Amino acid sequence: MEDERNILEVRDLKIDFKTYAGRVKAIRDVSFDLRKGETLAIVGESGSGKSVTTRSIMGLLAQNAVVTGGSIEFKGDDLLKKSDKQMDAIRGRDIAEIFQDPMTSLDPTMKIGKQIAEPLMIHKGMKKEKAYAQALEMMKLVGITDAEKRINNYPHQFSGGMRQRIVIAIALVNYPEILIADEPTTALDVTIQAQILDLMKELQEKINTSIIFITHDLGVVAGMADRVAVMYAGKLVEYGTVDEIFYNPKHPYTWGLLNSMPTMDTTGDELPSIPGTPPDLLDPPAGDAFAPRNPYALKIDTEQEPPFFKVSDTHYAATWLLDERAPKVTPPEPIIERQKHFKELTAAALKSHKNQHVNEQEEQL
Ligand SMILES: Nc1ncnc2c1ncn2[C@@H]1O[C@H](COP(=O)(O)OP(=O)(O)O)[C@@H](O)[C@H]1O
Ligand SMILES: [Mg+2]
Repeated sequence: MEDERNILEVRDLKIDFKTYAGRVKAIRDVSFDLRKGETLAIVGESGSGKSVTTRSIMGLLAQNAVVTGGSIEFKGDDLLKKSDKQMDAIRGRDIAEIFQDPMTSLDPTMKIGKQIAEPLMIHKGMKKEKAYAQALEMMKLVGITDAEKRINNYPHQFSGGMRQRIVIAIALVNYPEILIADEPTTALDVTIQAQILDLMKELQEKINTSIIFITHDLGVVAGMADRVAVMYAGKLVEYGTVDEIFYNPKHPYTWGLLNSMPTMDTTGDELPSIPGTPPDLLDPPAGDAFAPRNPYALKIDTEQEPPFFKVSDTHYAATWLLDERAPKVTPPEPIIERQKHFKELTAAALKSHKNQHVNEQEEQL
């Protein structure tokens, strides 16, 4: 590993999909680090390559995927060089994922105690009794009351929010070093979302897991993540600390994403989305792929791919606007307006969550 603070180093990752129409160039030279104990959020519109990136870390790419370059070093070992059997062992033990839809990731015919205990028996060779004791502990840790009784229930006997907690219990029961959460709460209503996110943070503090958190909703990022990586058309276009991305964003695509984030007085339905559509990844454009949608695009954007410009030791953005020869532009007014509210937004989210704790008992049923 280049840096001992890292648990994962992704370098120059390139992934294509073979299709009848040709090769979809889904991941195009992606590099990033995950530090021990941190939460890294990956954000970007649908189709930008967030899920394919994490699928490749899990070793669970679709059949038609071809990794054409790069490496994924986990504690100094390239995961791309592992056999299926080796990846099987790593998954669930060292790197775990919270799947989006609890209904498809839980087995409806199996008592949840067994579903939580089984990974311990498989990956840690634990005896049944010990595994069940630990499963019980895990159920309590994720906030399932009456766990002694509930351990014998089936998934359908739990509410949606409680099922998502069980999915988290299964993912965390082996104390994995990396937890991947790919839009883990999108299927849940907002109040339960907040509880689940809070629970993940709480468990991270207890277990010191590193989290890769994927979302298209920048609103939840502020309260969850330490650092943010912004993806567009199979590339990273900007990364930095949460504060850097929220208060000093540099890429016009990041401005667009921030602009489509809800504020105190807008609801989801009236949010501005970024005009235009992402490029066809069968034949990605030369230069900055965002150029056709970018009101600030320069001539060079359509000709030459921008390198990463350093904004600070922790903040980089791939936009020609940061070149010293580029005209000076500032983020559009609505972004600056919104920045005043980011702090309030996070505070409001935390506050409404506290009130919901009261209702948790109810939600259990
Ligand atoms: N099995 C597949 N075959 C062909 N194209 C795929 C496949 N899986 C994903 N893609 C394409 O790869 C790109 C990135 O997808 P994905 O990582 O799922 O995006 P998201 O950021 O929404 O998670 C998209 O253009 C998607 O259509
Ligand atoms: Mg996805």
